[in-house]
Amino acid sequence: MPGPDFDVLVLGAGSGGYACALRAAQLGLTVALVEKDKVGGTCLHVGCIPTKALLHAAEVADSARDAGQFGVRATLEGIDVPAVNTYRDGVVSRLHKGLTGLVKGRGITTVAGTGRLTGPHEVTVDGTAYTARHVVLASGSRPRVLPGLEVDGTRVLTSEDALRLGHVPASVVVLGGGVIGCEFASVWRSFGAEVTILEALPRLVAGEEAASSAALQRAFRKRGITVRTSTPFQSLKETDDGVAVTVEGGDVIEAELVLVAVGRAPVTEDLGYEEHGVTLDRGFVVTDERCRTGVEGLWAVGDIVPGLQLAHRGFAQGMFVAEEIAGLDPAPVDELAVPRVTYSHPEVASVGLTEEQAVAQHGADGVETLTYDLGGNGKSQILKTQGFVKLVRRTDGPVVGVHLVGERVGELIGEAQLIYGWEAHAEDVAPLVHAHPTQNEALGEAHLALAGKPLHAHG
Ligand code: NAI
Repeated sequence: MPGPDFDVLVLGAGSGGYACALRAAQLGLTVALVEKDKVGGTCLHVGCIPTKALLHAAEVADSARDAGQFGVRATLEGIDVPAVNTYRDGVVSRLHKGLTGLVKGRGITTVAGTGRLTGPHEVTVDGTAYTARHVVLASGSRPRVLPGLEVDGTRVLTSEDALRLGHVPASVVVLGGGVIGCEFASVWRSFGAEVTILEALPRLVAGEEAASSAALQRAFRKRGITVRTSTPFQSLKETDDGVAVTVEGGDVIEAELVLVAVGRAPVTEDLGYEEHGVTLDRGFVVTDERCRTGVEGLWAVGDIVPGLQLAHRGFAQGMFVAEEIAGLDPAPVDELAVPRVTYSHPEVASVGLTEEQAVAQHGADGVETLTYDLGGNGKSQILKTQGFVKLVRRTDGPVVGVHLVGERVGELIGEAQLIYGWEAHAEDVAPLVHAHPTQNEALGEAHLALAGKPLHAHG
């Protein structure tokens, strides 16, 4: 009997899948990567990268509109959406070219087509069966839609349709105030649209620290975005020139377009997973903390595994599985140490526990918090941004949560995650000198204050 075709076969070339393939190849394993669309998946083509390019264009628009605040005379003439899209697509295609080269350079066999699990160690792509010692399921996610709500791609859009829009809508209802909803609401408002967010839960970005949600909501309201929380969607009707959305309670909101941003569903149906012993829970693949499905040699990574649906978690899980297969016994990915960033204007970033989660784990007496207002931070004043750094620590113990709100604070999460990951105490961070004036300094100042020696903060 000949042996299997490959050591590792990865089904899906998104963040989780391609990271696994790259790492496995680096470790000397023979690897096949099956993809029906383009290497790079949701993140590169219709997710993180293109949306962050739009958010950058939105920031440029805001800078032009608000230039007078800085004594610079400029006027915002308008948004040339096709030109914005060309800029965005240029970023995506350069990264795609680079990634394709990387995959080729590592000697990975890419198989173009739709794969299906036809055995625990076999994937069939358009009639050809490929076998491997290990199969890694990485089929990703797609926008979730609501029952009774038909997405037509023209007036009722998913985030993928929204990326294809060639104009700035006059008005938009954003259904769902999670990460995607807040990011698109932010872009469209910066581009001049009237935006209403409808969120069923009592607050925006509900997984975040309550204070972060409140600050984002305040900032959005100041920017003229209508935020309606505790407002579940009920029904939708197309009108002559747009849509009419009815919410629970009976209010009707009319707009040119609706964006449906109510979460992302795992892509796991009709792929042969359950037939070959994989357990699904509401469509997600159930794994242990080592990404094992329970079937020998069959693994799962990324958005199909319950937890944070973030590209960098996918990268980490993909690399983890490759190392596990190679026998390196790596440490599993710590879900709480995965940083979270919403790239809206302003940004929200966090790592570790919220205050509420920390209190639930350690009791009210076991937790202390400190909030450092960006009002005391020189660089934030220069940028005219408001927000805060909120630290959550165990009483007389390490920092277990860091929460940030303000322009550009997503770039500060790197230090926050080291603090969290290394279980640092405020007293460990306080002596570390932070450059002045930077926004990063706000993290240093917050730890100085938590260590009992506030500098630019009231004691
Ligand atoms: P989400 O789960 O973050 O938010 C969906 C929101 O829709 C929730 O707040 C939910 O309460 C609300 N909702 C659900 N049904 C509703 C209804 N009937 N009426 C009103 N509101 C309703 O999901 P989202 O924003 O679609 O994002 C999907 C995934 O993509 C997330 O896991 C997110 O982490 C990831 N993502 C991450 C980004 C980042 O890290 N910057 C950017 C974009 C997406």
